[in-house]
Amino acid sequence: MTSQLLAAPRTHSRILGVGVHRPRRVVSNKEICEWIDSTEEWIETRSGIRSRRFAEKDETLAVMAVSAARSALRHAGVGAGEVDCVIVASMSNLVQTPPLAVTVAADLGATGSAGFDVSAACAGFCHALAIAGDMVSTRQARYVLVAGVERMTDIVDPTDRGVAFLFADGAGAVVVGPSAAPGIGPVVRGADGSSRDALRMNTGWGAFRADPTLPPPRMKMDGRRVFRWAVEHAVPAGRRALELAGLAPGDLAAFVPHQANLRMIEILAARIGLPDHVAVADDVVVSGNTSAASIPLAMEALLRSGRAASGDAALLMGFGAGLNYAGQVVHLP
Ligand code: COA
Repeated sequence: MTSQLLAAPRTHSRILGVGVHRPRRVVSNKEICEWIDSTEEWIETRSGIRSRRFAEKDETLAVMAVSAARSALRHAGVGAGEVDCVIVASMSNLVQTPPLAVTVAADLGATGSAGFDVSAACAGFCHALAIAGDMVSTRQARYVLVAGVERMTDIVDPTDRGVAFLFADGAGAVVVGPSAAPGIGPVVRGADGSSRDALRMNTGWGAFRADPTLPPPRMKMDGRRVFRWAVEHAVPAGRRALELAGLAPGDLAAFVPHQANLRMIEILAARIGLPDHVAVADDVVVSGNTSAASIPLAMEALLRSGRAASGDAALLMGFGAGLNYAGQVVHLP
């Protein structure tokens, strides 16, 4: 006998709205060079970054995620009370429990909402979006709020010249809901744990508490290795996501990859074979690398600039610590 569950009619899902929280404090390359041995020119040439935002004390992960979520709900025309589930992706959340998502749901007034967190570093947003899309299309939920939020400044050593100029803070959120046509394509995901030491925390908080003579937990990165790995894996993953969506590179209107480094973004776009008319998101220039928050932040910037429009087909691709990746084609909200 076919179970009721399997017989439940499927629908389609899409992103209905996007919202962001950009922290108040703008930090220039000049300021970064007060803490590390570098130059403004080196930072801009190697990473494309001109400035980034650092969260102030009151801009906690929950505050920034709720602020982005409120804008996304407004954009989608969905009330907080209609949200069935909140999924938060973050790699800088230092409180393992309760899940950040339940705090965000409560502060948002999404009283009937479930909530859980996803830990997949810079690929976290695309992983969470895939889960949200499936929840909606299998009718387990009507509206799911997905937020990517980071305070990378809490886990980055400001004097480490390999990472201090790159990472930054912020939040982005989207509302996923039902749709008459497919709006979120099949996800392509993968990981290579054998490369996990290329981007990692030097120690855990437990070990630090047990032995305070240890250096505090900080993120360590072999930038060159991550760069090579990401290009090698994100290119075929991007092509596969297009194939699964039944599209050719020229059918896209936009490419919104994780905002890791502008040089890397340009290489990915060229190697995936994106023609000139595809708008390539470059929010990293003014936002830095905000890990799980970077894709929704870049999506919002692209839409606000008018370089892409609602309904456009966009390839999203997240990649980072793990090393791992996830991406899919979506229609922009
Ligand atoms: N300022 C000035 N010089 C610096 C520097 C800094 N902040 N950091 C490193 N250098 C020097 C190095 O010492 C090295 O000098 P050498 O040639 O004399 O040995 C030189 O610059 C090149 O270093 P390298 O690490 O090879 O630079 P790079 O071109 O790879 O650029 C990154 C560094 C971090 C910008 C780049 O590797 C990167 O973006 N990697 C991926 C990061 C990423 O995406 N991480 C997250 C995934 S989500």
